[in-house]
Amino acid sequence: MNATVLNAINVQINSEFDASYRYLAMAAFCEHQKFAGAASWLRFQAEEERQHGLKLFNFVLARDGVVALEAVEQPKGSFASLRHVFEEALAHEQRVTQEINALYELCFGQKAFAEMAELQWFLTEQVEEEKIAREIVAKFQLIRDDPAAVLDMDRELGRRSSATTGSAH
Ligand code: FEO
Repeated sequence: MNATVLNAINVQINSEFDASYRYLAMAAFCEHQKFAGAASWLRFQAEEERQHGLKLFNFVLARDGVVALEAVEQPKGSFASLRHVFEEALAHEQRVTQEINALYELCFGQKAFAEMAELQWFLTEQVEEEKIAREIVAKFQLIRDDPAAVLDMDRELGRRSSATTGSAH
């Protein structure tokens, strides 16, 4: 593997594990606040991000590259409200989309064709991840701090039953 491309993919591996850790901290916060549905959703999301990291980890090894794991930053553990948790999640997904786009562009410039093919999965995944987060945030913005509606949202989030997709299917 080209060293520039390898380094950039290692940075992305770190970013995916960082995302996993962030979501896990959000899950802990929500569960502590007794929003068990949101906590469950966020735990699934944390696992999904771990899988994203592992997908690139496995790809680097399959290409005979050296995986270089870096330290993961301490995640934020406290939020103003449940709505704020998901607003931050959306903002984070938007940043990850930018990272993936930049990584794809770098691979394009380096003519790293196998890496471009691998990253296409991530480009598609980010469209889905942003869409789901945007829909959740839109609902929270609509209901604001109405307690009954917030509890309904928590219940709805709790219906997510897999880490392979953000929605409950
Ligand atoms: Fe791995 Fe949420 O992007």
